[in-house]
Amino acid sequence: MDCSWDFTGKCCIVTGAANGIGKQTAILLARSGAQVVLVDQDEEGLVAATHACHEVACVTPLSILADVSKKQDVERLVTSTLAHCHKIDCLVSGAGLLYRTPFMEIELAEWDEVMNTNIRGLFLCNQLIIAEMLKLGAGRIVNIASVAGRSMSLIGGAHYATSKHAVIGLTRHMARELCQQGIRVNAFCPGATSTAMIHDNLNVEQVDALKLRIPLGRLAEADEQAQVIAFMLSDAASYLNGACIDSNGGSVML
Ligand SMILES: NC(=O)c1ccc[n+]([C@@H]2O[C@H](COP(=O)([O-])OP(=O)(O)OC[C@H]3O[C@@H](n4cnc5c(N)ncnc54)[C@H](O)[C@@H]3O)[C@@H](O)[C@H]2O)c1
Repeated sequence: MDCSWDFTGKCCIVTGAANGIGKQTAILLARSGAQVVLVDQDEEGLVAATHACHEVACVTPLSILADVSKKQDVERLVTSTLAHCHKIDCLVSGAGLLYRTPFMEIELAEWDEVMNTNIRGLFLCNQLIIAEMLKLGAGRIVNIASVAGRSMSLIGGAHYATSKHAVIGLTRHMARELCQQGIRVNAFCPGATSTAMIHDNLNVEQVDALKLRIPLGRLAEADEQAQVIAFMLSDAASYLNGACIDSNGGSVML
């Protein structure tokens, strides 16, 4: 896909950057001139994604092995980023986890695991990174929610849907509180996208059945979703704040 974004000189942190939507976003931002910081807990995936960013930008990006739900890890990622880039302009909070467990079978440990990654981790990254953005009086955040946070999930369990509703609530509140200090915060709500999150959880027949429920008749590709995220971070979206952008092939009303 052609790239027309200019992030020259911008330091952009992407969490969940080892795979899927986060990886394609990191590659697109790197190709668009950004100093990209890739964050993930998947070491092998992180190495491959870092290599892919290097290939498109001819600059080795910073990559940080971290669990976003752990405060020490998020503090370390902020310190390392500042040592490398001296400022933080953008955050894409994409690290996420999905289980399909039916409501009555969800164990508390699994509930906590989903909430710890999808909302506690996102909160920690937003709060600690915005603390640095406030020193500059500028910053752009895209929090990756889901179609599951707009209505319900055809794939994930109740804990996943709950966490994604929480991402949207947190994003809207932050947008109102922080915009006067130069920080724009928006939520991105993908529909079914062809990544490990789908293919590890559904078999081929289930994916085909899912496609029939999507008006466009196919899953999104991760790089199509990355383009929307880049727009949301860009100067072209200067009035976008507290928004939820749906990119779901027309299937928001499930
Ligand atoms: N694929 C879809 O259909 C879809 C639809 C709607 C929303 N989303 C959301 O988009 C985001 C990206 O999902 P994806 O489809 O690319 O999935 P993915 O599984 O390909 O990527 C998710 C990444 O998050 C990382 N991660 C998970 N927990 C982490 C933690 N505690 N700390 C650091 N990294 C962690 C994983 O290692 C992985 O690299 C997620 O927030 C997901 O909920 C995906």
